[in-house]
Amino acid sequence: MLVGVLRPLLAACGLVMLRVASAVHFNYNNGFYYQEVGDGNSNGEIYFNGVRLLVESPQSSVSATRGGSAILPCHFHYEPELNAPRRTRVKWSWAPAAAARPAPAETEVMVAVGDRHRSYGGYRGRVRLRRSAPGDMSLVIDELRLNDAGRYRCEVIDGLEDESVTVELEMRGVVFPYHSDKGRYHFNFLAAQRACREQDATLATFDQLFAAWEEGLDWCNAGWLADGTAQYPITAPRAGCGGTDLAPGVRSYGPRHPLLHRFDAFCFSASVKGSVYFLQHPTKLNFTEAARACSEDSGAVAKVGQLYAAWRLAGLDRCDAGWLADGSVRYPIVKARANCGPPEPGVRTFGFPPRHQKFGVYCYR
Ligand SMILES: *[C@@H]1O[C@H](CO)[C@@H](O)[C@H](O)[C@H]1NC(C)=O
Repeated sequence: MLVGVLRPLLAACGLVMLRVASAVHFNYNNGFYYQEVGDGNSNGEIYFNGVRLLVESPQSSVSATRGGSAILPCHFHYEPELNAPRRTRVKWSWAPAAAARPAPAETEVMVAVGDRHRSYGGYRGRVRLRRSAPGDMSLVIDELRLNDAGRYRCEVIDGLEDESVTVELEMRGVVFPYHSDKGRYHFNFLAAQRACREQDATLATFDQLFAAWEEGLDWCNAGWLADGTAQYPITAPRAGCGGTDLAPGVRSYGPRHPLLHRFDAFCFSASVKGSVYFLQHPTKLNFTEAARACSEDSGAVAKVGQLYAAWRLAGLDRCDAGWLADGSVRYPIVKARANCGPPEPGVRTFGFPPRHQKFGVYCYR
């Protein structure tokens, strides 16, 4: 349970610290207590004595699915309870979850005053406050996007003071290493961003790569992450991958120059609305034939991010190599078995073979 507490209000718009409290007993010691003094007449005159504002969230993180909805809980109330409603403002903002340094600026998601609210940027039309009870300022986000993941701050503003809690939004998904068809270490930061996007994914955050490492991802090629660092996850330390003296972990080159330095990419993909399937076809296909065959099946050749999501989140398991949209050939294995690659589950890759060679194809529809 996260709790914020309103500290004393200084004079503003009818809110005045009561400096001399001859007739009123109240306690300043913990700094929470304040009095609000109206204009001294009966209209709107409110005295608060020993009132605190508490902002709380019962959940510090929420996990959600792309395309779905998420509710980020946030409630406020006053102690003791007030009988006259107060004009509070609520602001939700977003920042990347990774502990990036310097701390990234927060961007506004929504601001609400009374019944009125306004949302910003890519959140416009997709966010609202739940308001299931008085003080319920939980944020509802619909049509979740991959890059909605991050740290959301719910800030309740009363007069000049504000209190807030943060709630992490995690997207369920899968991290995969990706390199260019031109070879290893070919992407600068911008090219890596573009490459992930073209595979229906985004650059992974550090938290996402770390979670993938915890689940066993071991990859000895450094890739860009969303925060502009280049890192790689090692579960079995060995020479050439940071050496055997280093404990298992995510190895980091730290922040790198976004244009001059080149690495691979770690992309993050989440569940897709449609389905990914191995196309039933009487013959094997070259790349152009594969594209035509998927479109004749009312689909398109699947992207790498879609294949990984189908493997990881929908259990797609198929021991047949197939073309993907970027010209790579891969197949997804959930239950490792003889003649289907190494003894662990994974998406097997044949790299980028010449496009006249013949394989099956994975379509997306
Ligand atoms: C694939 O085969 C077709 C004939 O079916 C041919 O016209 C096309 O050029 C081939 N594509 C590639 C990339 O080799």
